[in-house]
Amino acid sequence: MTILMTFSKGAGCQTFRLACRPALASGKSFSMAMLVLLLCGCGPAQQPTSSTSTQPAATATSSAPSAATADPQQVKQMNNAALSVQSKVFGQLPDGREVSLVTLKNSHGVELDVTNYGGIITRLITPDAKGQPGDIVLGYDNLQQYLDNNPYFGAIIGRFGNRIAKGQFAIDGKSYQLANNDGDNHLHGGVQGFDKKLWQMQPFQHADSVGVELSYLSVDGEEGYPGNLQVKVIYTLTNTNELQMQFQATTDQTTPVNLTQHSYFNLAGSGSILEHQLEIPAAQITPVGAGLIPTGELQAVEGTAFDFRSAKAIGRDIAAEDAQLKLGLGYDHNFVLKATVDDSLVLAGRVLEPKSGRVLEVWTEEPAVQFYSGNFLDGSLTGKGVQYAHRSGFCLEPQHYPDAPNQSTFPSTLLKPGETYSTQIVYRFSTKS
Ligand code: GLA
Repeated sequence: MTILMTFSKGAGCQTFRLACRPALASGKSFSMAMLVLLLCGCGPAQQPTSSTSTQPAATATSSAPSAATADPQQVKQMNNAALSVQSKVFGQLPDGREVSLVTLKNSHGVELDVTNYGGIITRLITPDAKGQPGDIVLGYDNLQQYLDNNPYFGAIIGRFGNRIAKGQFAIDGKSYQLANNDGDNHLHGGVQGFDKKLWQMQPFQHADSVGVELSYLSVDGEEGYPGNLQVKVIYTLTNTNELQMQFQATTDQTTPVNLTQHSYFNLAGSGSILEHQLEIPAAQITPVGAGLIPTGELQAVEGTAFDFRSAKAIGRDIAAEDAQLKLGLGYDHNFVLKATVDDSLVLAGRVLEPKSGRVLEVWTEEPAVQFYSGNFLDGSLTGKGVQYAHRSGFCLEPQHYPDAPNQSTFPSTLLKPGETYSTQIVYRFSTKS
């Protein structure tokens, strides 16, 4: 049984989909049926799953009831003890379209704010080893700051994460020219990438998780890309302290697709990230040339500053004499996680911040991860009361290899009509005392 409930106030109309188990709503008195209706879990049925026991726990849709209520006023709310979803107005785009902000909370002190402008995670609270909450992502206080100058803080990246040389590629003999926004190259989807689009957003609540489903239609020719691409991204915050992110897309013409999430983390909340201990289980990187475009080779990390196979401080080797570090102005490189592309979930990175004891793990189905050590942050941006100094945030962006459309030896990023692009990234939060 599926019921659509729409609560509207001005332009800020929200639809909550309540998908209730049919057995619960049949054969009972009216009042009982209404009670049961309120106790049903709701939201998209599909949940990310893990393939092996060493991977992050999958979230099962349990039969435990969760209350679903909605306030028709400006703040909409669905509550189950501490598990909750709240939606409010975040601001307006210059063209008048209204932007929302949804707050997701689980029962263990993890909470985040997500806006449908760029699918940006603006705030992510996790407890430290002593249980003290702290915001572990870089971001801003209001929509205007995101509109003015956002170096991809917290955003969904697409249609193609990372760089495409000269913004050019060919498919079946036909050449395409994309919008270039990084010198002569195309970066993170171009001038108006997915990080700057207004997505449709639907909050949902299950028995053990809460989340939002974001969708966006990238039209044929947008930023120079071929084909209408229908994109869906589902953020699910679980009660096992994971933020699971599913990415799906379909197209009507063959097009490159490489979606990712661009949160900048600082597990201490502020200050330098150079003392964070990082592990990346990758034996190779794709070395780059000028403009951070891959040369097409794979380079072993063994014996170099890029060897994070055992945890070490991000800052330990960052100033080493290394041609790749010079080109990247630090770490800004693609680490190879998998020899072959498949849908198994693998660890992309594990980070421990020693003082707070916070641990972040990033898991992914993607074959690689871009580790960026915040080299372009220079103190000129301030958000949430923090001045974002050089290397005060780091990114772990799971993705296919940069410039894959021009590199025949790299795993393909082409999506064809009739196929479904599907990938997953999981942030897993814990502490270590
Ligand atoms: C990615 C890129 C970096 C930089 C940041 C945003 O991580 O690889 O070079 O562009 O995004 O500033």
